[in-house]
Amino acid sequence: MSNITHGKKGGKRKIVIGNWKMNPQSLDEAKHIIAKTKKAAGKLERTTVVVCPPFPFIPYAVPRSHLSRRAVPEVAVGAQNVSFEESGAFTGEVSAGQLSNLGVSYVIVGHSERRYPRPAAGSTPTVGESDLEVSRKAVAVVQAGMTAVLCCGEKTRDGQGEYLDVLRSELKVSLQAYPKKSLSKLIVAYEPIWAVGGKAAMTPDVVQETTLFIKKVLSDIYGQHEALTVPILYGGAVNFRNAGDIITLGQVDGLLVGRESVNVPGFVELLQVVDTL
Ligand code: PGA
Repeated sequence: MSNITHGKKGGKRKIVIGNWKMNPQSLDEAKHIIAKTKKAAGKLERTTVVVCPPFPFIPYAVPRSHLSRRAVPEVAVGAQNVSFEESGAFTGEVSAGQLSNLGVSYVIVGHSERRYPRPAAGSTPTVGESDLEVSRKAVAVVQAGMTAVLCCGEKTRDGQGEYLDVLRSELKVSLQAYPKKSLSKLIVAYEPIWAVGGKAAMTPDVVQETTLFIKKVLSDIYGQHEALTVPILYGGAVNFRNAGDIITLGQVDGLLVGRESVNVPGFVELLQVVDTL
């Protein structure tokens, strides 16, 4: 099945993925967010909703349809990370096969909070995954039958356009091992690092410009026809107020939402806004 199908009203379905990060702190809160998100998503007609809770909460989010093998769930479940190894002595790691077996259908790979260590003192320490590791993770995800949500984004913007080289190289290496035949299982999430966790999102016109560039890079790798089928999402300081403009003016296929995805009223409103577009 391709990532984006046509909604009941005939338009292209949008995708909203909630990245809960290391939140919330209790199972009760997690159950509450899941229940409210499912309720809101059940009323939508043109939006695919995915929640990515921390690993311990995943079994509580998995749709019952997975267990009973019934039709499309209101809310699909994703994971925030995965190992590229299949199984074995890798303490603390979780395999793609384990996630898929639980009913997970999406996995975020290469989120900026897991990629390169940030040199500045006092900033959030990162784990430091390389583009090559990210590439192996994306392949592990599709080999297990799930969809890979590949994050990319520059740390800073400069006047000379060097960030475009950074973005191109990050995408090329992160997709190095990713096969063309699996493009229907790939989503690219553009997340400028300076906007992730920040106060202000990128302006929609710049989102549009950058996603065009990403499409060009994907076309260079896979050929234009195939590359244009890959949904591009925007992420970084998205909330219910800016979601509509980012999608319509930024011309993206959906959103990767961090903080607002665990803020129930805001996320419900965001889903409603997106569904009207
Ligand atoms: P944010 O995070 O929406 O809290 O900025 C986005 C993300 O990290 O995916």
